Amino acid sequence: MSENPHVTGDMTAGDKATGEESGLSRKQFITAVGVGALTVPAVVGAAAATAGAASAPPENELLACTPGRTTIAQTEGPYFKPNSPQRDDLTPGTSGTRLVVTGHVFNRACQPLARVLLDFWQADTMGAYDNAGYRLRGHLYTDANGVYRLTTVVPGLYPGRTRHIHVKLQAPGQPQILTTQLYFPGEPRNNTDTIYDPSLLMNVRTVGSGREATFDFVLNVAGTGSPSPSPTVTPTGGGTWRVGTYYAAGVQVTYGGATYRCLQAHTAMAGWEPPNVPALWQRV
Ligand SMILES: [Fe+2]
Repeated sequence: MSENPHVTGDMTAGDKATGEESGLSRKQFITAVGVGALTVPAVVGAAAATAGAASAPPENELLACTPGRTTIAQTEGPYFKPNSPQRDDLTPGTSGTRLVVTGHVFNRACQPLARVLLDFWQADTMGAYDNAGYRLRGHLYTDANGVYRLTTVVPGLYPGRTRHIHVKLQAPGQPQILTTQLYFPGEPRNNTDTIYDPSLLMNVRTVGSGREATFDFVLNVAGTGSPSPSPTVTPTGGGTWRVGTYYAAGVQVTYGGATYRCLQAHTAMAGWEPPNVPALWQRV
């Protein structure tokens, strides 16, 4: 098996020649989006206004941050392109199952970060990336409450990978860029994709004919003042597993006479019983 199935997928000879696996420098990334989150408050303000109009994630999503536990980085793969357009809706010009992804971006102290740049790119419903144009590519900013909202479609599969969305994040005034990927629960290929990591699983639910997903990022950015209180610091026993209950990482529950430990903060839904979602629950 290849060391990196992402590279061995449907990458073209041209992709290989350009060696896209290497990360971008900060300068390149800022150039990539045209406007730095660091220097153009007017543009940021416009983006924040758009994001602010969106409904915020459920309040319990705030609990998905554990102080000091940052979101892991992953390879950007071969298909990142600089200069993506600023927009929070990637669906024009494409088809597929509508997907709305919302969440927060926090610092290490679990304080929400405003004006964080998020640059998304993904495959279309057929598993193809638009390497000639900017279909299903775009960047946006978190609002004053650290909330982002992306409207897109569920990405298709391509050889060697499970279903995923790529993203780069950069907080204003911070040199680091976090490059990572988001994943979908219940995907058979999650078990065979060597890049996949359960800590990057979104919470996904079906709403009508579309999907709604949440994911909170935690950047390696120092907090300011006193850390926000977080009731998830000390996970406690969760009793018997129940639909609709929010479970923080580390919480233990019982189900079917067995005990399981929560690996990823989420709100339980029917079909997500511990034995069915090993990415979320580990038997202890
Ligand atoms: Fe990819």
